[in-house]
Formats: sequence, C-alpha cells, structure tokens
Amino acid sequence: MSSRTIRFGIIGCGLMAREFASATQRWAHLPQMEVRPKLVAIADTKPSCLCWFEDNLPDVTVAVSDYRDLLASPHVDAVYCALPHHLHAQIYGDIIAAGKHLLGEKPFGIDLAANERILAALAARPEVFARCSSEFPFYPGPYQIVKYLREGRFGRIIEVEAGFWHSSDLDPNKPINWKRQAQFNGEYGCLGDLGMHVLHIPLRFGWMPRTVHGLLSKIVTQRPDDAGNMVPCDTWDNAVMACEAVSGEHKFPMLLSTKRIAPGETNTWFIKIHGTEFSAEFTTKYPRTLRTLTYRSGKPQSWEVLDLGYVSAYPAITGPIFEFGFSDSILQMYAAFCDELINRERMSQPFGCATPAETHQHHRVLTAALESYKAGTVVALA
Ligand SMILES: NC(=O)c1ccc[n+]([C@@H]2O[C@H](COP(=O)([O-])OP(=O)(O)OC[C@H]3O[C@@H](n4cnc5c(N)ncnc54)[C@H](O)[C@@H]3O)[C@@H](O)[C@H]2O)c1
Repeated sequence: MSSRTIRFGIIGCGLMAREFASATQRWAHLPQMEVRPKLVAIADTKPSCLCWFEDNLPDVTVAVSDYRDLLASPHVDAVYCALPHHLHAQIYGDIIAAGKHLLGEKPFGIDLAANERILAALAARPEVFARCSSEFPFYPGPYQIVKYLREGRFGRIIEVEAGFWHSSDLDPNKPINWKRQAQFNGEYGCLGDLGMHVLHIPLRFGWMPRTVHGLLSKIVTQRPDDAGNMVPCDTWDNAVMACEAVSGEHKFPMLLSTKRIAPGETNTWFIKIHGTEFSAEFTTKYPRTLRTLTYRSGKPQSWEVLDLGYVSAYPAITGPIFEFGFSDSILQMYAAFCDELINRERMSQPFGCATPAETHQHHRVLTAALESYKAGTVVALA
C-alpha cells in the first residue's frame, strides 16, 4: 500500500458492493482527499454477479469465485465485504487473518457470538484496521447534529429517538430472499438489518442503553419463492426498543425502531435529539432539511428549518447550493474509512465509521431486545 493509494478487493458483489464500487469511480468528486482507493479485485460465488464490475471497473485484475483467492493476492490492501449475515464471522475472520484491512457490512456478525469471533480475530491481528459500514451520519443534517453534540449544545438530554423504516415488505407478494430467512439473516431479522444504522450516533456519544424493552412483530409469515411456492418468512419484520440511556449525571429515554413494514416509508432514517438548551431533528425523508430549536428563557419556543445543501465531511466538487443523496453518503463514508485507515487519530475530520467496539455494543443491545421480548421483561445491560 503506498501512502496515497489503497488497493481494495470486494467480497460479495451484490447490491451494496455496486454502490461501493461506483463510489470508487467518483473519487474525483473529492478534490482534497490525499488518499485514493483503487478497486483491483472482486469475488462472488455467482459468476454473473461479477460481470457489471468487470464491465465498469477498469482496474479490476482479479475476479474470482473463491474469496480465498482474492485474499491470497498480495495486491489487495483492504477489503469491502458485503455478504449475507451467516457468512460474516467466517469470512471477516479470514480477511483479518490474511492481514487485509476491513470495511465490513453490518451487523458485523449474524449474532453476538459471531461478532465476538470477529473481535477475537481483530485482537489477534492488531495491525488490521476494521470498521463497519454506516453511511447515514454522513448526510449533512446528521453530520451537523454530530457537530452540535461535540460542542455540547444540547444541555441536559431530555429524550432521543432514532429509527430506520422501510415499507416494501407490506407487499405480501414480494418474493423471499436471504434477508427474510433467519438461517441467513439471523434471529435478529430487522434488528440486525437496520440496528447499526440507528445506534451509530447514540453509541458514539456514549449513550449505551442501560435497559432495553423490545417489542417485536412478525407481520408477513410466508412469501413466494422463485417458483411461486409460499415458503416461511421467519424473520422479525418490525422492532421497537424502549431504552434508558445515561448522559453525564442524567438518565433519559431513548426510543429506537427498526421497521421493514412502516407504511409509506422508503429508506427513512431519522434521529431526534431533544435537550434543555437545544434540540435537533433530521430525517432522510427531507434530506436537506435540518430542524433545530434553541431554547431561550422567556422567549417563544420556535423550530427553525434550515435547507443545508451540499455540505459534506469531505469537501466535494458539488456546489453547496445542490442536494446531497444516498450515493453521496456512501462516498463520504468511504472517504472517512480511507482517511482513518491512513491517518488514524489525525484523520482530517473527526467523525469515523462505526468501530468494532460499537458493533459489539450494538449486538448487546439487539440481543437484549430479543431476550426482553421472549421473556416479556425489561433487560438490564451492565
Ligand atoms: N449499508 C447499507 O445501507 C446496507 C444496505 C443493504 C445491505 N447492507 C448489508 O450489506 C451486506 C450484503 O447485502 P446486499 O444487499 O449487498 O446483499 P446481496 O444479496 O445483494 O449481495 C450479496 C452477494 O454475496 C454473494 N455471495 C454469497 N455467498 C458468497 C460467498 N461465499 N463468497 C462470495 N460471495 C458470496 C452473493 O452472490 C451476492 O452477490 C449485508 O451485510 C447487509 O446487511 C447494507
């Protein structure tokens, strides 16, 4: 690895891998980046999944069906891994053991035990840099909220709510895929799919829940397979976690929700933080809009609504009068990964991708939500 170029491989060439690869081709968007990724290798067990990459990524020289052949390449420095969840522990572990840096997809292990296997692999190879994908905090709105949090603007935290909602599963005829089958997706279901996105900012600011009350729903229990036969759809569709967290001296409620069946919602990620001095709210439903309220004693309480435009963690060629979108958030997250990999604590801006320790905390929360729902009790996390 030269100090300026990181040679990447991708394992699992599906939906998210195409986003990642496309972001590699948009690096000219980030004129101030001193580090540059180069996508040189791809691996997928389905040869047909490799075609788009071979057609569009000019630097790919290794295209293989067995990911171990990619890991054997001395020309790969880092791997983006986007696989079904039942494969995370084994393959993330193999990537780490091969000495390759890792940007892994969430939930970073199908369950808590799998996550701990990955963390043990990292402990055995401390020179390997690993992070977990979570792109939404790189939208201008939440990025600004993160700045406010760092500045201590909120006063005493009154309440936090964060969620990630989809609706396409409301269609009972939507065909089944691995994400709707517990053997591949995990017992977590929607919690594992969406929970890291919801917990990234809260955990970064130390709001590890002390208690969790999980409410889980299975709404559509069968779906058609490719042949049109109805087969079990055995993952949780929706989850609400009523948590208590602590900030400084004070406890506060934190309501987290991960839903695949939230009527009308399409990739709606949101965060609301209310404090005694300042409050802020953002949702991807209104992607350039940031709502804030500054409390002034004796003055009317009124929300301010700001159109943020394209203001990003890493300066881009896109003018600030334009809009920011999902693929921009992937590009910015990718830049944060590369920046932190090369520069570590001297990275050029302070907000990084989710850390392995944060993935472990999030697994503890999700596992507590499952336990809570099964037992019908509130679960305490030490
Ligand atoms: N960050 C996000 O916003 C986001 C969004 C969707 C999915 N994800 C995560 O990304 C990961 C992948 O999801 P996806 O939607 O891209 O899935 P996908 O099904 O589109 O892609 C998975 C790919 O892995 C390949 N694969 C399966 N077994 C393999 C093996 N042994 N070796 C190599 N390739 C293999 C499949 O052929 C497929 O091409 C999951 O962890 C998921 O939770 C993240």
